[in-house]
Amino acid sequence: MPRDHAALRRAVVAAACAMNGLGINQGSSGNVSVRAGKGFLITPTALPCEATTPDDIVAMTLDGGHRGSRRPSSEWRFHRDIYAARPDAGAVVHTHAVHATALACLRKPIPRFHYMVALAGGEDIRCAPYATYGTQELSDHALAALMGRKACLLANHGMIALGADLDAALALAVEVETLAHQYLLALQAGGPKLLTRAQMGEALAKFAHYRPG
Ligand code: 13P
Repeated sequence: MPRDHAALRRAVVAAACAMNGLGINQGSSGNVSVRAGKGFLITPTALPCEATTPDDIVAMTLDGGHRGSRRPSSEWRFHRDIYAARPDAGAVVHTHAVHATALACLRKPIPRFHYMVALAGGEDIRCAPYATYGTQELSDHALAALMGRKACLLANHGMIALGADLDAALALAVEVETLAHQYLLALQAGGPKLLTRAQMGEALAKFAHYRPG
């Protein structure tokens, strides 16, 4: 079996372990993928990152075909569907981060309570309806919740974040978890005052030019 995309395979393993190290995932929950050529590379199912080597990473095509010694993540459908529908997606991470998942269990979106919500691409971060993990139904719900966004919550499950590359997807996942934590605290303290649509619009416009000088 040829082992192509060696550096990308190593980067996928590193990103999967980084999710746990950053405290936004645990055990064999969650999964990571990166676009590679006409397809993508994805973490194998049910294998904790510490036990995963670059050779365990599974190469998939957009028609769902895969090769490698391992079976792909059970969530390969939403990873595949994101790459097929979203040219802006170079990498996708899915985590069961504690606060994002707690909010997802309340089936609550993250509203415009803080301007950093705009980092995910819009004025809120939606929560996709519940569907069994690994199903096409879950993928369909996720894709709808990601419309015009780079992140969403998954009801009673966790979150998805995407980015141009693995670092960007990972950084957004950390941000979503931070926002979920802040929002939960604000809810417990009586509920936040929301920003207006116009205020979020200004933040969105400014983020379009937000980069190191
Ligand atoms: P996999 O181990 O199959 O990637 O599944 C983990 C998960 O989080 C399912 O949603």
